[in-house]
Amino acid sequence: MTHVMHRSMSGTPPLAVSSSGNFIVDSEGHSIFDACGGAAVSSVGHSHPRVLEAMRGQLDRLAYAHSSFFTSEPAEKLADFLTSNCRGDMSHVYFTSGGSESVETALKLARQYFVEIGQPTRSKFIARFQSYHGNTLGALGVGGNMWRRKMYDPILVEGHHVSPCYVYRGLRSFETLEQYTDRLISETEAMILALGAENVAGFVAEPVVGATLGAVAATPGYFARLREICDRHGVLLILDEVMCGMGRTGTLFAYEQENIVPDIVTIAKGLGGGYAPIGAVMIREVITASPLETIEDAARTLHRHRISSLPVVNAHGDLQGILTETDILYAFVHLLGGMQACSRMEVVVADRPGELARAIRIVSEQLGLNIVSMLVPSAATGEARTAIINVATIDPREALAALQGAGFRVGWPALDNDLSATVPE
Ligand SMILES: Cc1ncc(COP(=O)(O)O)c(C=O)c1O
Repeated sequence: MTHVMHRSMSGTPPLAVSSSGNFIVDSEGHSIFDACGGAAVSSVGHSHPRVLEAMRGQLDRLAYAHSSFFTSEPAEKLADFLTSNCRGDMSHVYFTSGGSESVETALKLARQYFVEIGQPTRSKFIARFQSYHGNTLGALGVGGNMWRRKMYDPILVEGHHVSPCYVYRGLRSFETLEQYTDRLISETEAMILALGAENVAGFVAEPVVGATLGAVAATPGYFARLREICDRHGVLLILDEVMCGMGRTGTLFAYEQENIVPDIVTIAKGLGGGYAPIGAVMIREVITASPLETIEDAARTLHRHRISSLPVVNAHGDLQGILTETDILYAFVHLLGGMQACSRMEVVVADRPGELARAIRIVSEQLGLNIVSMLVPSAATGEARTAIINVATIDPREALAALQGAGFRVGWPALDNDLSATVPE
């Protein structure tokens, strides 16, 4: 009998004993193709030798030094990497142990910022229905997935919710995408005004909704419009890129493709790639430059965790190098240049949806590369027809050739889910 409290008490999952590339091997010798990279975590595949080497080396040198008293080379290097590749004015990185903790931190940083700048009434957060921001009380409190909240509702931090940007379910038959976007933005602004702008601290959203909608990007211009209304009302824009960040959409940060910079961004899954329990909150210079005088212990954040920013955890930083070194991430985005936001990263295997996992396997085996993908069920049929392929280590043109060679018809769907759309030149 197992003494581990597994996610489901009704059974014990297979015993994973080793892993390599895209595969996890269980105790009975089955080699299981990890098509979705765990929970969208394994961004460079399993047991990547360069990551393991970097972490082993760091373990030999220094595993832990309390972050109240020390910094470390891996933490400094990783923060340098992130701030210099964020295409914005993010100036500081606060390391955490995962996604929920990053969101908690973001909420508390936002609160502290408003106290510091003399706007202490700002304490409310608005997010969207069908969002997931983590499972701790604050993160679940802002999250908009009612099913996940139900059990804990009475003990959650207060959150306020507006409609998600979800074309498939939300677009009315007579509406254009622009009108739909206008409607959503008006709803958000109405919520800010109803709560009293002077009481609202932040708007929290995933640029591409992961856990609760299944890889849904926003309409073109939606995030730029959100940025405008946040600015107009002095509300911080907090983007949760725990799932969609770190290369999953073709750029290191998903917000880069919306041509905006959030005030705070949270990252986690792909940042650690499954090698380390790490998350991070990146903060814009304007926030870190706030006076920080009202708190007794000036110039410090009161939100701390004993074991965050461990050198050995930060030492997997080589992983980010692997993510960016080939420029393939950017090549992929260019390949899709000019396409609608909603279609920018999807490869659709239109003819044989049931065989999508096989298609991904063909790509990874033929190219001998680690790819990580997310299977997206078609809203119409519930079948997975679309793979969002993390292009961290893959040339999309080669992937296309491999798929086409195996008889798959591959295309980029247009915003309206037109699966017959062809690959852009
Ligand atoms: C967007 C988003 N935010 C936060 C979280 C929570 O992250 P963690 O499970 O590392 O606490 C998740 C996890 O799925 C997520 O997808």
